[in-house]
Amino acid sequence: MNLRNLSLTLLTASAVLLVAFNRPANKKSMTTSIKDSVIYGKLPADSSFEKTIKGKQTHLFVLKNKNGMEAAITNYGGRLVSLLVPDRAGKMVDVAVGCSSIEGYIKAGSSYYGATIGRYGNRIAKGHFNLDGKDYSLFINNRPNSLHGGKEGFDRKVWDAKKIDGQTLELTYVSNDMEEGYPGTLSVKVVYKLTNNNAVRISYEATTDKTTVVNLTNHSYFNLNGEGNGTILNHTVQLDAGNYTPVDATLIPTGKIEPVKGTPFDFTMSTAIGAHINDTSKQIRNGKGYDHNFVLNKHSFTNPVATVKGDKTGIVMKVYTEEPGLQFYSGNFMGGVNTMKYGEKDARRTAFAMETQHFPDSPNQPQFPSTTLKPGETYKTQTIYKFEK
Ligand code: BGC
Repeated sequence: MNLRNLSLTLLTASAVLLVAFNRPANKKSMTTSIKDSVIYGKLPADSSFEKTIKGKQTHLFVLKNKNGMEAAITNYGGRLVSLLVPDRAGKMVDVAVGCSSIEGYIKAGSSYYGATIGRYGNRIAKGHFNLDGKDYSLFINNRPNSLHGGKEGFDRKVWDAKKIDGQTLELTYVSNDMEEGYPGTLSVKVVYKLTNNNAVRISYEATTDKTTVVNLTNHSYFNLNGEGNGTILNHTVQLDAGNYTPVDATLIPTGKIEPVKGTPFDFTMSTAIGAHINDTSKQIRNGKGYDHNFVLNKHSFTNPVATVKGDKTGIVMKVYTEEPGLQFYSGNFMGGVNTMKYGEKDARRTAFAMETQHFPDSPNQPQFPSTTLKPGETYKTQTIYKFEK
């Protein structure tokens, strides 16, 4: 990079950080690094989101819509870093829980903050599957299973990034044949768009040169009261799901599809996340709370599959997808070990994820909708997180 480009990049990065982190009405002050660099104008040459990893450069990109919403995304793992949404009083609240630097994300690796997940979202039992008569072995990163793509999933890759316009970022990545044990060269495109109807639309496309399995999703952690504003237990959730896939103690689906009626998984009516989260039933114990795949009734773009409301801000998030499943994860494994953007620790259940997906372990469960992708086919899916108040 020549000097002019470098200074331009730094200028953009300072502006970006200023915009992304200086305004939200979140409780605590910003972390020291962001605060120093933004408020005191001391953005270092290798600023918090500028890092070279295996020869590829990471950046932070900011999208803005005409209503003042802003989404900051890094090409390190295709992560949503921050998302400013107006609350009922019109104040901007950062509802996406994230780290203040690439280093922070590297350290918080197995939490997958904001990340694009692939090649296979969620677990594959014992890291093993058979496809077209051939056995494949994956890295066991979540004993005894493989989780979210293995040791170095798409969440740890530096994606090629192209800002299409002020509201659109295109990320591309080519996953080599047998990367993390998966067959086929997979060419992936993920497009983040911040729309003028206050939605973050994430569109995925993938093609392969050999038959493979694909299940892409986004692992954003949300707190609709704003990052750093306590637990999500008083948020309410409504899911358009009459059934879910129960799991064993290692969070692999048992293969059954069971009705939610009469269980703590019944979110067909708006219910506080905390209402039954400490239930002593086996499924809640297996998940340590909610960490289950819900079988969606309609899965279309006309009806939200999930509606979540932050009790303090009144911010409502509606999730739309055409995927058959939704992993509702209530942040049970958040350990309070990572310091997030506003200086708060990532304490247990201070964020939730709504991951649109095919069902976990589908490659081993032929009765589930197929995740197989063949040469000549194009994998296509979208997740829409729409915000209202
Ligand atoms: C999984 C959880 C896991 C979390 C973060 C979720 O999709 O289902 O079990 O802890 O991701 O890795």
